[in-house]
Amino acid sequence: MEIAAHIMMQFDIHQSPMSLPLNLEEEITHLKRELNAVLLAHYYQESEIQDIADFVGDSLELSRKAAATDADVIVFAGVHFMAETAKILSPQKQVLMPDVNAGCSLAEGCPAPEFKRFIEEHPGHVVISYINCSAEVKALSDIICTSSNAEKIIRQIPENQPIIFAPDRNLGKYLVKKTGRQMVIWQGTCIVHETFSEKKIYHLKTVYPEAKLIAHPECEEVVLDQAEFIASTSGLLRFVQQSPDKEFIVATETGIIHQMQKACPDKLFIPAPPEESCACNQCPYMKLNTMEKVYLCMKNRSPEITMPEEMRLRALKPLQRMLEMS
Ligand code: 13P
Ligand code: SF4
Repeated sequence: MEIAAHIMMQFDIHQSPMSLPLNLEEEITHLKRELNAVLLAHYYQESEIQDIADFVGDSLELSRKAAATDADVIVFAGVHFMAETAKILSPQKQVLMPDVNAGCSLAEGCPAPEFKRFIEEHPGHVVISYINCSAEVKALSDIICTSSNAEKIIRQIPENQPIIFAPDRNLGKYLVKKTGRQMVIWQGTCIVHETFSEKKIYHLKTVYPEAKLIAHPECEEVVLDQAEFIASTSGLLRFVQQSPDKEFIVATETGIIHQMQKACPDKLFIPAPPEESCACNQCPYMKLNTMEKVYLCMKNRSPEITMPEEMRLRALKPLQRMLEMS
């Protein structure tokens, strides 16, 4: 009797996840119509979120969608800097995020006060920041880039103009090699892309000798040196669709494999293994978002992304330069 009462108390229907509707997909579709909302998702989201999204893309494509949408509400299934970018570009829209704690190790590893000092130590440099950074860091930058337009942007900077590149050191090093431009690089890394094991990839290639290694430029140099193709998430997806090859070892977050498999059901995609026996090739921030949280953020219209207008305007300028230059 006592145990039964205890169990009843634990399952307060107003508090427990049991009070969530059974068909979340239907509810989310209904809320999209009711709020005139667009659901944007990054490729690293859980497959069920990708499948219900209005648009799935890489950072650049998602920024463009956020800037162009005529929806009243943007639901951003991605990480914080992505939703923040949507708000900077579309201030009149309400921007909602399923989980406000979905951060990014690159953004967190580059705090604005330290970055300001870093810029002051290198006067006369143009500051190019990878979009994986906070709005405060964007506001301190001259131009923003993503992994799909960084090379194009750097090639447009006059030869004699010194450059600071932040916050990803692997992408920075890769760009130095590609463009031949020396840059002062902030030493940040992505906790997912730095975990891939060069040795395990090498071993996988002996098991699948036909497989092509494709990698995101956030990977360590030792992995990039072995890769047959390097690009942003969208670039990798396009490559596997156009390639005559049938097997690929994919050195980026595993979420992208969902779209690869959908586009090419007859091809084999092998996730590049991390050093440890862990699920470190999954982004713990991206994976904080769930269908339940997508539904709840739309129902409660919270958490919402807001920021001081003065900072938004400063962060907008380098983003607009990016969109013009790419
Ligand atoms: P993309 O712009 O290639 O989608 O990369 C985003 C990201 O966070 C990679 O870790
Ligand atoms: Fe940030 Fe890395 Fe996650 Fe991309 S995969 S959001 S860079 S922590």
